Amino acid sequence: MKKLIIILLGITFSFNTYAGGISLEDVNKDPILKGKFLAKHCSWCHDINKKLVAPPFKVILERYKNVPEETLKKQFFEAIKNGSRGKWADWMKKNLKIKMGKLDEMYMPPQKPYYNDEEIKLIVNWLLSLKK
Ligand code: HEC
Repeated sequence: MKKLIIILLGITFSFNTYAGGISLEDVNKDPILKGKFLAKHCSWCHDINKKLVAPPFKVILERYKNVPEETLKKQFFEAIKNGSRGKWADWMKKNLKIKMGKLDEMYMPPQKPYYNDEEIKLIVNWLLSLKK
């Protein structure tokens, strides 16, 4: 029981400190913040500006800047839910300085094990909010 309490405290603590002191209460009130909060997991591979092992979100938005928002929402929803492969292979080969052997084999795995559709929509809305 003691162990469980310690684990719960740990979880509460990390929720409260994520993204510079945003509280869980703030997150629940603001759908964009909620999307940002949920997108924490994406940061394994994507940064907003920096090149990690996937294209940065700003670079993705720049590439599709002439695509209408509604189309982009569907496209990103699909990419997040079921993964994406091949669209960024050339870009990644040119721009990422990581030695992974076959870089064109890099792809984005489906994220549906981690999120339901509503959560994916919140993430997409947060992502599109970075345009501004
Ligand atoms: C394991 C690494 C990894 C994770 C985790 C990951 N991605 Fe990706 N993502 C990639 C890679 C690699 C690509 C490029 C795929 C390609 O070439 O089509 C990509 C591509 C994308 C694209 C571009 C799709 C398009 O139509 O061009 C979007 C949007 C995106 N990711 C959003 C996200 C979001 C949001 C999350 C978190 C919910 C996430 N990714 C989690 C690796 C990842």
